[in-house]
Amino acid sequence: MEIIIVDGAEEGARVVADRFEQVLRETGGKATLGLATGSSPVAAYRELIRRHREEGLSFAGTRAFLLDEYVGLAPEAPQSYHRFIRENLTRDIDIDDAAISSPRGEAADPVAEAARYDASIREAGGVDLQILGIGSDGHIGFNEPTSSLSSRTRVKTLTPQTVEDNARFFDSPDDVPRHVLTQGIGTILEARAIVLTASGENKARAVAEMVEGPISARWPATALQLHPRVVVVLDPAAASQLELADYYRYVQDNKRGPVA
Ligand code: GLP
Repeated sequence: MEIIIVDGAEEGARVVADRFEQVLRETGGKATLGLATGSSPVAAYRELIRRHREEGLSFAGTRAFLLDEYVGLAPEAPQSYHRFIRENLTRDIDIDDAAISSPRGEAADPVAEAARYDASIREAGGVDLQILGIGSDGHIGFNEPTSSLSSRTRVKTLTPQTVEDNARFFDSPDDVPRHVLTQGIGTILEARAIVLTASGENKARAVAEMVEGPISARWPATALQLHPRVVVVLDPAAASQLELADYYRYVQDNKRGPVA
């Protein structure tokens, strides 16, 4: 893992947006992007929108897959992740609406929908760059603690903690769906590159486990240690429980070139 500890949200957004620019360059503008919802990536999405408007960064040849969706919510529902990504990124860049895929939360058969969605990512040739946040319990996507580290897209039950964490997006905690469709950890690990961003004290324990803890389904993000191309972008609060933080800063200060 490459650990980048930034001063604050603006610098973090630039570092993440640079990764998107890099993958667009590497793929000749034809990247398949893996998009995440939640508050963590929003600053980076704003920076991408700015680069699109002011610097001509184009997403016209890209396509995108979302990580997850609430079971029971149609794409146009106010709290659906499909709508979130449209309102926070895709309506303000030049990506075709038809090129954005997400699990269909309102599918009559969510189990079949999960399998269909997983297969559709593979059929598209896989994800070139996946952006991730991390839950306070170490989840990625909606892969809650004790998720299989080789899981595929499937239906999961949220922990009470995640329901509480996400209640801010709903009128009341009772409105938060208890079930979700999420790419599995095995699915996520097939992305060719991953950038994970986290900020704030309440992510510090999960970040420390992810970077320095033993690989364990207890902290699902630890599976990212198995991936050869992961960049982790942290603000000082999210990095505050890292034992080797000084080493990560030293590595960045002495960087010789692209580091995996
Ligand atoms: C949500 C999403 C994740 C996200 C995480 C953290 O439940 N399913 O993709 O990374 O929880 O959310 P936030 O960035 O709002 O802290």
